[in-house]
Amino acid sequence: MDERARHRQLTEQIRYHDYQYYVLDDPKITDQEYDALMRELAELEKRFPELVTPDSPTQRVGGQPMQAFAAVEHEAPVLSLGNAWQEDELRDFDRRVGNLLGSDEPVWYVLEPKIDGLSVLLRYRDGEFVTGLTRGDGYVGEDITQNLRTVRSIPLRLYEGDVPVPSYVEVRGEAFLPKAAFAGLNRERERAGLPTFANPRNAAAGSLRQLDPQVAAQRPLAAFVYEIRRLQGGPSPDSHWQALQWLRAWGFRQPPGSERCRGIESVIQRLPGWQEKRQELPFEIDGLVIKVDSVLAQNQLGATAKSPRWAIAFKFPAQEVRTRVKDIAVQVGRTGTLTPIAILEPVAVAGSTVSRASLHNEDIVRSKDVRAGDTVVIRKAGDVIPEVVAVDLSQRPPDTVAFQMPKTCPVCGAQTVRLPSEAAVRCTAELSCPAQVREGLIHFASRAGMDIEGMGPAVVDQLLAAGLVADVADIYYLQFQDLQGLERFAEKSSRNLLVAIAQSRTRPLHRLLVALGIRHVGERAARLLAEHFGHLDALIAATAEQLQAIPEIGTKIAESATSFFAEPRTRRVIEKLRQAGVRLEAEEKTASRGRLAGKVVVLTGTLAGMTRAEAEAAIRAAGGRTASSVSSKTDLVVTGANPGSKLQRAHELGVPVVDEAALRSWLD
Ligand code: IVH
Repeated sequence: MDERARHRQLTEQIRYHDYQYYVLDDPKITDQEYDALMRELAELEKRFPELVTPDSPTQRVGGQPMQAFAAVEHEAPVLSLGNAWQEDELRDFDRRVGNLLGSDEPVWYVLEPKIDGLSVLLRYRDGEFVTGLTRGDGYVGEDITQNLRTVRSIPLRLYEGDVPVPSYVEVRGEAFLPKAAFAGLNRERERAGLPTFANPRNAAAGSLRQLDPQVAAQRPLAAFVYEIRRLQGGPSPDSHWQALQWLRAWGFRQPPGSERCRGIESVIQRLPGWQEKRQELPFEIDGLVIKVDSVLAQNQLGATAKSPRWAIAFKFPAQEVRTRVKDIAVQVGRTGTLTPIAILEPVAVAGSTVSRASLHNEDIVRSKDVRAGDTVVIRKAGDVIPEVVAVDLSQRPPDTVAFQMPKTCPVCGAQTVRLPSEAAVRCTAELSCPAQVREGLIHFASRAGMDIEGMGPAVVDQLLAAGLVADVADIYYLQFQDLQGLERFAEKSSRNLLVAIAQSRTRPLHRLLVALGIRHVGERAARLLAEHFGHLDALIAATAEQLQAIPEIGTKIAESATSFFAEPRTRRVIEKLRQAGVRLEAEEKTASRGRLAGKVVVLTGTLAGMTRAEAEAAIRAAGGRTASSVSSKTDLVVTGANPGSKLQRAHELGVPVVDEAALRSWLD
């Protein structure tokens, strides 16, 4: 046999054994035999380097250490999941699904473990692993391809078996560190005098963000893949269950124990079994994910800005600990809301030390009757945010008093009010309350907002104390001499801050909208508004109805934005920003003028003359917006070869359907 034929044979054998081992959990040879095959392949490639291909099993660890990871835009937003902790919340979810689908029939669900790791996106072109990304902020991820190549359960080439391999597919899964590997890694780090990781999730994240793939390769990471995000050049699955089977056939490891259940009660029945099984699993799970099985139903249900309406996470109860409430403080937020905070005797819970817990609002403090001096049970909601669960009344000292929400603002002394429709008590001084001004400034300069480097809470406090700023626009009028007068502001730091402020002037409109801190307008809504209107003046001129006509913008956001812009104070700040040369335009200036202005376009199937990314960019340039599923807000569906269920959905909803040629005529 010549070396080329032997190379092919070895490669195929190794892929077959990888599949048996990782996917089927049924190894057919011993580790020694496997190592011998790998060794022979490596030796062969050493003698005949021309035989090496990027997807050869020997090529997992390659590449030089990097300076930084490249940022890559996601083809479609990488969504997260809504959470449920109670069985009744699952019943509510099921009711919403039933209502939206307009059916009383029990819905088929798939129940699978929720792996506590890191979301990763994997792209395969003609079966070859080409790119691996982190989720990042959901819009832009980091290119961690080199590190993901070192993960043995991620195939470098899709397995050609019963299910044809598509010309392009992007899948999503979870990279994680098994419990034993985590313990081993921490032992090693302790011996080496390095800081240990708090939990497997942090360890996995740290490993995948190693700039040197050699280091990542030494971390025994694994990955489960549970979603086909996009597929071209092949049929699309009709159900999640089928998608899981296809993924398995292509060589991806799956979250084990997934079950298909008819109706929500059947899902609920299975929950206790999982809670027990959890301890025995070799990796951490923090809950279960419940997904509507039918892809057609999924498309019909669509998604909110953050999460699909067809899936929900059921979180396991968190670890609970006891501690003492030293005091209840009241904080005043950016919008004037007074928030009671329990100041706690520091206590360790779920991987960190907790010394404060929000008590949210007056009603919650009252219903729990938390008092200074009480012993309380706390836990981390969703294992992140500390929360007071209950008071242990048997431990209550005799002299405690019930908590009273202050009648005046603890910061500015102004009257507080509670609107009948709200749980929040607010300071009425609004922007003359220093606490609100301070929080507004901090938010404005923060990373999510205008991202002014060096302008954190401490600097904001200094500027306020010196009377240099009274609203966010004042930031842009700061002079070198102003800063020189402040403590710790040497010449260099003053210049740096002024440069950072000047640079922030050019942030696109959606960043400015986030920075202004309009209630209910988060990152996603800000992007939608900026994209739709193109310029702040157009947005200011819009009515609540016009805002609501935008897909994903509901009444709450529309009303909050219009009343915000109607305020004279807002207008004054915006005029000052304009005078200071702050950009009021969105990223793509043509957005509101092109042939597809304001249109929501859904693509399905493979286009002949352009890639999906090119088509999406062209649609955006022509003023349109692309969405991933067809709904009543879709204006147009463009079909290519092998369209998926979206086409059927378009016909059902009477959405106009055009071909690639028609699309091109609008783009030119
Ligand atoms: S489905 C649109 N399935 O949990 C689909 N997510 O809290 C959304 N996760 O960001 C994801 N195991 O990183 C899904 N079996 C599973 C999962 C899973 C873990 C993670 C995922 C997601 C997070 C949401």
